[in-house]
Amino acid sequence: MTESRSRPTRADAVRLDQSDPLAGERKHFALPSGVIYLDGNSLGALPRSVPDAVGETLRQWGEDLISGWWDDGWWAAPERVGDRIGGLLGAAPGQTVVGDSTSVQLFNALTAAARLRDGRRTVLVDREGFPTDRYLAASVGRLLGLTVREVPMAGLAEEIRATGDDLAVVAASAVDYRSGELHDLAAFTEAAHDAGAVVLWDVCHAAGALPLAFDALGVDFAVGCGYKFLSGGPGAPAFLYVNARHHERFDQPLTGWHGHAEPFAATAGYRPAAGIAQARIGTPPILSLLALEAALDVFDHVDLAAVRAKSLSLTDFFIACADARLSGLGFEVVTPREHRRRGSQVTLRHPDAEAIMTALAGRGVLGDVRPPNLLRFGFNGLYVSHVDAFDAVAAIEEVS
Ligand SMILES: Cc1ncc(COP(=O)(O)O)c(C=O)c1O
Repeated sequence: MTESRSRPTRADAVRLDQSDPLAGERKHFALPSGVIYLDGNSLGALPRSVPDAVGETLRQWGEDLISGWWDDGWWAAPERVGDRIGGLLGAAPGQTVVGDSTSVQLFNALTAAARLRDGRRTVLVDREGFPTDRYLAASVGRLLGLTVREVPMAGLAEEIRATGDDLAVVAASAVDYRSGELHDLAAFTEAAHDAGAVVLWDVCHAAGALPLAFDALGVDFAVGCGYKFLSGGPGAPAFLYVNARHHERFDQPLTGWHGHAEPFAATAGYRPAAGIAQARIGTPPILSLLALEAALDVFDHVDLAAVRAKSLSLTDFFIACADARLSGLGFEVVTPREHRRRGSQVTLRHPDAEAIMTALAGRGVLGDVRPPNLLRFGFNGLYVSHVDAFDAVAAIEEVS
């Protein structure tokens, strides 16, 4: 951070970038020149490893045809890529699988989670969660005859205690997609377990952005997408984590043939495969899945703790610049200032959010807007610099 509390300068940003251990990672991403990309929390930038990987998959398809499923490792990809993502979640191998969208994985996981707590009738859902999470929870509630209550995160711990032994599942997002607030996964997981319930975390805005410790915390289920901080590309498949202690009793509703113990035996009834393979559903989108796999290469030589440290440094600097230059212009920093409560984005509130973001895009500064008045700026430490943060705030000041 800047040494004094005075208005941060561009020279401060340059100094911070000069001592940034991740500065060299930016070359692994194909960012257009003249663009400051602060929307990697919606769609990660293109890793340079991806085009070749997609080209190679197309070659395999063209030359190997159907044998690509075995000879090129397509069949094993959901578990193989799942294990690589699992490494970013603090999950031992054999608990994470990739395929389908986050929405599909949410439906599958939430239903399976509720089935683990048969007899309990209440599901608590994060009221500030992404719409798809809340829509799907409501649908699962109708399907299983459960009461689904949307609860603000600020009141969730109390609601968990009050619901007690009727509580089946707590489903919440690790990071609030609007405010960028990071929630206390350890505390909520423990509270849910104390009530005898299971937890399902949506880590779309956390996976690849900060270290997670699913196994150590005893998290039951988690889902997340491949296209934000993992940079797997538009429509990259999502992942599902199922803690190994639930594999015996895991009973997913989407019993597709890929999760069958003998997928090619065409037996009359469904018999789940052992382990995390049972959480597969149908034929995965191989082109996207292998693009995601290539995107993960960067994490082979980068420590997530360093990515987190860089992200906090970037968001600290962006907030300091915003405090110094924007507070008199009607902006309010919505994202919590405490590191332990901050994800990897900064959200500003302003009544003219939409018009400001449009003007910013005209200057090559890309973030996004969440209605009615929130401007979101995502900071992926692998390719965003402190100079980007400084220049973005200067541009916001200019257009406001
Ligand atoms: C927290 C969260 N969950 C889920 C989703 C989207 O789900 P899907 O990948 O099915 O579109 C998003 C999309 O931005 C999200 O932010």
